[in-house]
Amino acid sequence: MPIRFVELPSGDMMPTLGLGTSTLKGEEGLEAIRTALEMGYRHIDTADAYDNHEIVGRAIEGREREDLFITSKVPPDYLHYDEVLQVCDASLLELGTDYLDLFLIHWPNPNVPMKQTFDALGELMALGKIRNAGVSNFQPHRLRSAVGIADIPFANNQVEVHPLLYQRELLELCHEHSIVVTAYCPLARGKVFDEPVIVRVAEKHGRSPAQVSLRWLLQKGCVVIPRSRKEEHLRENMEIYGWELDDEDMAAIDGIERHERLVNPNFEEFRRSDRA
Ligand SMILES: NC(=O)c1ccc[n+]([C@@H]2O[C@H](COP(=O)([O-])OP(=O)(O)OC[C@H]3O[C@@H](n4cnc5c(N)ncnc54)[C@H](OP(=O)(O)O)[C@@H]3O)[C@@H](O)[C@H]2O)c1
Repeated sequence: MPIRFVELPSGDMMPTLGLGTSTLKGEEGLEAIRTALEMGYRHIDTADAYDNHEIVGRAIEGREREDLFITSKVPPDYLHYDEVLQVCDASLLELGTDYLDLFLIHWPNPNVPMKQTFDALGELMALGKIRNAGVSNFQPHRLRSAVGIADIPFANNQVEVHPLLYQRELLELCHEHSIVVTAYCPLARGKVFDEPVIVRVAEKHGRSPAQVSLRWLLQKGCVVIPRSRKEEHLRENMEIYGWELDDEDMAAIDGIERHERLVNPNFEEFRRSDRA
């Protein structure tokens, strides 16, 4: 079954399955991204912080640019107007492309007025260097302020969502504002695999727990970006179209009571824990 698409406010079509590339580096990372592209993946999720733009650039070399959907992200400590423009230019150079399909604010930074970051994204859109703009790790309170401030259409919020972290309020808020949600860590980095409800639903459908987790997210209207370096997992993660979870399955997964957040969306915490 081919990968399906969701329409963004610009009219661009975003593939609802992408390849997450954090930690995909070096020759092994390059091989994984090339394998995914050969298999039919067309949407690649990268970021300045992943330090793998060159690898992604090498993997997409020689492919029709229009067939690809490339997302990258500007780090939270480069959100002043000129810095956003500079990071975008550097990213384009590293990726060997003229434009990004989607450029996201990787993390909110309360120390930089949001308006100037959004104005810079607007400028990049006007220059044709990015086709769509959005945010990542914006929780409901921040998203509400952001949509009030930005003069540009908000295409996307990339956040942690999986069966062990439903984030119902955030999904509903994004839906209300026609913001597409990209679910990162869609497999909870493997933690969904032994969740009894997921295992039971997977057995019922003759599918794997990974496929059930991804399918649940698709049926919640999310785009999914699982990461894998293994060919069999990449293939398995593509087989999420052409079958459905029924209402009973969806309700059972909605009702999972575990609440396991793997990545802290708070920038100050991010600074201390991940970047110290
Ligand atoms: N915006 C943000 O702040 C943010 C934060 C975190 C992540 N992300 C993005 O989201 C992407 C995905 O998140 P993630 O990489 O943290 O976690 P994930 O996709 O939930 O899990 C990745 C792990 O699952 C394994 N896996 C993948 N498919 C599998 C399958 N079918 N069966 C068994 N194991 C499987 C992979 O191992 P194998 O290689 O062995 O398959 C890998 O260890 C990232 O790569 C990144 O692009 C964004």
